Parts: sequence; structure tokens; C-alpha cells
Amino acid sequence: MLSGKKILVGITGSIACYKSAYLVRELIKLDAEVRVVMTTSSAEFIGPLTLATLSKNPVAIDFVKNDEGEWENHVELGLWADLFIIAPTSANTLSKLVSGNCDNLLIATYLSAKCPVWIAPAMDLDMFKHFSTQENLDNLREKGVKVIEPTSGELASGLEGKGRMEEPEVIAQEIHDYFNPKTKLGGKHIVITAGPTYEPIDPVRFIGNRSSGTTGVLLADECAKRGAKVTLILGPSNKKTAHPKVNVIHVSTAEEMFDAVQTNWELADIGIFSAAVADYRPKNAAQEKIKKNDEDMSIDLIKNPDILKWAGENKGDKFTIGFALETENELENAWSKFSRKNTDLLVLNSLKDEGAGFGETNKISILAKNNKISSFELKNKQGVILDILDALEEEL
Ligand code: CTP
Repeated sequence: MLSGKKILVGITGSIACYKSAYLVRELIKLDAEVRVVMTTSSAEFIGPLTLATLSKNPVAIDFVKNDEGEWENHVELGLWADLFIIAPTSANTLSKLVSGNCDNLLIATYLSAKCPVWIAPAMDLDMFKHFSTQENLDNLREKGVKVIEPTSGELASGLEGKGRMEEPEVIAQEIHDYFNPKTKLGGKHIVITAGPTYEPIDPVRFIGNRSSGTTGVLLADECAKRGAKVTLILGPSNKKTAHPKVNVIHVSTAEEMFDAVQTNWELADIGIFSAAVADYRPKNAAQEKIKKNDEDMSIDLIKNPDILKWAGENKGDKFTIGFALETENELENAWSKFSRKNTDLLVLNSLKDEGAGFGETNKISILAKNNKISSFELKNKQGVILDILDALEEEL
């Protein structure tokens, strides 16, 4: 239930406005306290009276509240909310959320809000796909706004595609789960390493690898969603977290990643080591760009710290998860890694399996104590991380 939770529902001009009425009703059914702020154009799609009746509160639309000229206090409204969900979010409002163009009460309230802000875009498929829209969404995600992805289907234009606002029941459930994390990860501090590391050869070149960081970033978001306090130590990656509560520490080299893990280790309950850390780094990174000549050249490499191994040696009563990407003798190598690094779970994937490795999908097995192995089908990475975290919760 959402008893005691104050949810502010923002509504902007879209044919999907009718769904806002259902959203308000769902939230009220979950016992939330609901208030509504609308744009004037949304009021052409749905009557404020409907929303006032369903939310059991007056609806805010204009800066001026009533005939007496009383001021609508957007600051109070923004501060009142525990969560502000703008559903539907039109392309026009999306761009104003990015620019801060404050020409209506809804944007003024957004600019005053201190709570998490979620948006549920609704628009035609080409508008949604447009780079301007996508850039605006990326920009907001980066700032911690949660985007509830639209679904695909028939659109008001008659076209078929992605752009339908997510169903109100699904949004209400997500809000419910956000406030009621139903898992054993609630309150745990989880340190996650993710992405590649870049080991400098000179100021221009480096030794890196193909890791995108996707798995680690998805793990971080899902852990936060399940109520954990998450510190994500992320190597060079363009992946962004979606959950506003994930604390991201950006690093570049294995040594920087190791430093960040050591700094955060004492307070951690769980460590998830999904980063593809370079095992070696150039012994002497040149200060200036190396110039070519007619000779071949070689680079001396020295070992990097093994972060997971260090965590295994300094584990106390913490729980660790390691990863192994193998190309041959997969199980034998993975069990050896499991004991050498003293981990509690080891996620194995083999480059021999089609779809496993560096793409959008993966096929994993999870090794646990007492020779236990669970093997999973090929899944997208979101499915994979759910399996990993479910296995973690089972072991805790
Ligand atoms: N790892 C780490 N620090 C390193 C190397 C690896 O924390 N310097 C972690 C990875 O994040 C992963 C696990 O160790 O969780 C496995 O890494 P991998 O490089 O596959 O294992 P290695 O022990 O280096 O074995 P090998 O290179 O022989 O496969």
C-alpha cells in the first residue's frame, strides 16, 4: 500500500490524458494521498472536475488560484510531494523539463520539487524516435529523472509503433514497489564495479576492452529499486543509471577502481564485481604522445590489483559476486576462479554460446557453494540481472 505517501500527478496535453484518471484512481486505491497539477492544454483533453473528484483534492492549473486572485503556491506543491509523476508527458513538456522554460504551473512545480520525478512519455512514434526527443530523455535520465518507457501499439494517429503511455496499473505498481521494496536487499549497502578499465599507454592511447558496462548499470538500478543503497564504481562507459538513488563514482583505470572499492568497502554488505578489469597495465605510461619511427615497439606490462580477489581476502561477513567470461574449459576455469577469489556466487558466461558476451543478450550459469550450478537460457540483459539478483536473495 501507499498509505501516508503523497503523490503529485502532473498531466500534460495528450490524448493519453484519459489514462491519468485511471492512474489517479489506482493510486487512491493504494491509499496514497494524491494531488493533481495540469497544463491548460491537458484540460482540453480531460476535465479537471474528473481529476478533482478522483483525487479528492482541488486541481492546480493556473498560477492564479481563484477569482479572488489568490496565488497557487507551486513551491508548496513541489515540496509537499514524496513523488512527482508526470503522466502523460508530451514532447512539448519534455523539452520544457530540460530547458526549464517555466511558462506554466506544472513546470514551476517541477522546478520547485525536491522529490523523485518520474515521467511517462506519450507521443506519436516518429516524435518519440526523433533525436530531439531522445536527447531530451537522455538528458533527464542523466539528471536522475526516471523515464517510464512508452509501449508499442496503435497510436492516436492511426500509426503503429512505440509511443503509447504505459498502462496506469503498471505505473501505479511501479510507484508502489518503489516505496515498498519487497526484498532482502532493502537497506543493504551494495558496491558494484562495472564497465571496462582504460590503462594509459600515453596521453592519447590506452589498453581497454569491449565491456559496455550495461550489466553493471542495470544491476545497480535494480538493486536500488529493491531498496538497497548502491555505490556504482563505473569505468569508462556511456551507460547511464536510471534510478535517482544510485551513487555513481566514475573511474578510468583499474587502480582508480581499486581505490574506490577500498574506500567504500568497510560500509558495504555486498560486493558485485561485474567490471571487466584489465589484468595488466603499461609499466610506464608515457607523459607525451609516443611518436612512431621505423622500428617495431613493445610495451612492458605489469599486473593490476585483482579487486575481486582483494575483496575475497577482506570479506568478513560480506557477500561477494564475481563474474567469469571464458572461452574454453568454462566450468573448470570458473570453479577455479570461484575458490581462488573466495566468492559466494560466480556468474559464468562463455563466448562459445551464441548471444553471450558483449551484446544486448547473455546466457549465464551461476555457481554457488556446495557445487551448486544454475543454468539459464539466453535472455536480454535485464532478464539476466534479475536472475542474478534473485540468486543473490536466495543465498542471503
Ligand atoms: N576482477 C577484478 N580485478 C581484476 C581482474 C578481475 O576485480 N584485476 C574480477 C572481475 O570483475 C570478475 C572476476 O574478477 O568479477 C573475473 O575476472 P577475469 O579477468 O575473468 O578473471 P581472472 O582471474 O583475471 O582470470 P583469467 O584472466 O585467467 O580468466
